[in-house]
Amino acid sequence: MTVPATAPGPRPGVLADGTNAWGRRYLMCPPTHFGVLYEINPWMHTEVTVDRDRAQAQWEGLVATLRAAGAEVVVVDHDPSVPDMVFTANAGIVNGDQFVPSHFRFPERQPETDIFSDWFARQGFTVDRLPTELDHEGAGDALPFGGLLLSGYRFRSDLPATTALSRLTGVAVRAVELVDPRLYHIDITFCPLDERRAICAPAGWDRYGRKVVDALVPEPLWLEDDEALTFCANSVVIGRTVVMPTTPARVGRQLEAWGFDVVTCEVGEFLKAGGGVRCLTLSLDVDLRR
Ligand code: ARG
Repeated sequence: MTVPATAPGPRPGVLADGTNAWGRRYLMCPPTHFGVLYEINPWMHTEVTVDRDRAQAQWEGLVATLRAAGAEVVVVDHDPSVPDMVFTANAGIVNGDQFVPSHFRFPERQPETDIFSDWFARQGFTVDRLPTELDHEGAGDALPFGGLLLSGYRFRSDLPATTALSRLTGVAVRAVELVDPRLYHIDITFCPLDERRAICAPAGWDRYGRKVVDALVPEPLWLEDDEALTFCANSVVIGRTVVMPTTPARVGRQLEAWGFDVVTCEVGEFLKAGGGVRCLTLSLDVDLRR
């Protein structure tokens, strides 16, 4: 009898039960110095004031929701010079014990590169930098699915950065061009749910990008344009729990039909800056090699 050298296991990035192998440990930053103090995406209006107390309460509500769903939350202090540091998804890419810090498009966020690099180095991560001339906004613009990274480019990240990212991490990166400035990061258009499924907002992608996702995701939950603009793809998945900033009725029904528990978490103060639940978190347990 011949025994196969390797047993057919689950696909990379997923557990034997089909749930994501990552997304159970998050880095978050409390909104101590958060505000809409400049405008770098179409949702930000400096004349709109953020209610700091409400932002703090919403943030604490999100932390509690993630913990209740079984996730661990690690907290980094908010540096007063960078109000958008609450959006830790943009810190960089985690890959096992490797951290690739973001290079931000706008000067307002650029100091975050050193702040997060120092934090990750102190935690024992190896910090590998992209070439300085290339912008890439981290997990906000790159999410694992099907053993590769799906990476958005144009508004915040440069296309050649995806090649550099692939070289640094040793993982295949598939690039998707973002076309709607309101959906300026890929994590507003794409949410990996499990081995076969993802929330997908084709309104955010060009024709080729739609084909890439179509070929990659066996069972997409396609969003209508108005659903996508509610930020419902900007959600976090912990096993079979989906934590969403908004839950359009049809989307909630489909997720529940697939066996997910759906939790809506109010983060309205952060939507004023163009960020939802996913933007407020960075998965620390992504390992693209397994
Ligand atoms: N105000 C922030 C910015 O424009 C929001 C970042 C949202 N982050 C995300 N991962 N989509 O940079």
